[in-house]
Amino acid sequence: MKKIIIIGATSGIGYEVMKIYRQRGYRLGIAGRRLAELEKIQAESMPGQVEIQQIDITQADAVDRLKQLIDQVGGMDLFLLSSGIGQQNRTLDPLPELQTVETNVAGFTRMVTAVYHYFRKQGKGHLAVISSIAGTKGLGVAPAYSATKRFQNSYMDALAQLSRMERLSITFTDIRPGFVRTALLKSGHYPMLMQPDKVAGRIVKALDRKRRVVVIDWRYRLLVFFWRLIPRWLWERLPVHN
Ligand SMILES: NC(=O)c1ccc[n+]([C@@H]2O[C@H](COP(=O)([O-])OP(=O)(O)OC[C@H]3O[C@@H](n4cnc5c(N)ncnc54)[C@H](OP(=O)(O)O)[C@@H]3O)[C@@H](O)[C@H]2O)c1
Repeated sequence: MKKIIIIGATSGIGYEVMKIYRQRGYRLGIAGRRLAELEKIQAESMPGQVEIQQIDITQADAVDRLKQLIDQVGGMDLFLLSSGIGQQNRTLDPLPELQTVETNVAGFTRMVTAVYHYFRKQGKGHLAVISSIAGTKGLGVAPAYSATKRFQNSYMDALAQLSRMERLSITFTDIRPGFVRTALLKSGHYPMLMQPDKVAGRIVKALDRKRRVVVIDWRYRLLVFFWRLIPRWLWERLPVHN
């Protein structure tokens, strides 16, 4: 039986991905900060299929708790990090900026380095993260969010190269969705909004195919393609907001 660990499975995209693997009969280890949500998911699942662990990726004990979760599941073939926070911050309030860095950079690094070491020891594995298309360029309305997502993109590139240098059989997948209707977006109008269950279906397909980088969906692939072509002098003059 395949074993998957999902961090950030208590809501949104991670929750929907969890549902698909649960349906497929995978053995699952899930985590997040909200213990009540984790317990609810476990109670709704087949007895013995889902293991839970309360993990806050910004905390130093997150690695030990992750190891504990892997032990509970009895191993790990596939790891998915869906934990992340972000918000628009046009007033450049420093607190949410720093909190976003804590979670999306420090917490992210804490988790993916631990998983890299685990897979290196195991000789193989599949390490996947949900970053975002927001990492394509710096966004004036969400500086920390866009910059931290760019960090995640680069970090995955770096690990993929490092693993080849070390001749390891680790698969890396960087998932970059456009806007998805989840709690993360809060209020506001977002164009080309996608439903989390549909996005989860695309994610699982990409993971099945062991894709290295995937932008979800095709409309955002097109958008990102043109977005990248915009020169800096022009980008800085564009009032990008929703
Ligand atoms: N929604 C979008 O438009 C969109 C677009 C592109 C990319 N993404 C990315 O997709 C990922 C999932 O977000 P979502 O849209 O599904 O939002 P969400 O519903 O708010 O889910 C975020 C998940 O992250 C977990 N989390 C947050 N902080 C954490 C921490 N310190 N430690 C452990 N877990 C933590 C949350 O669980 P707890 O609260 O239980 O800890 C929750 O399960 C994020 O990385 C986000 O940046 C979202």
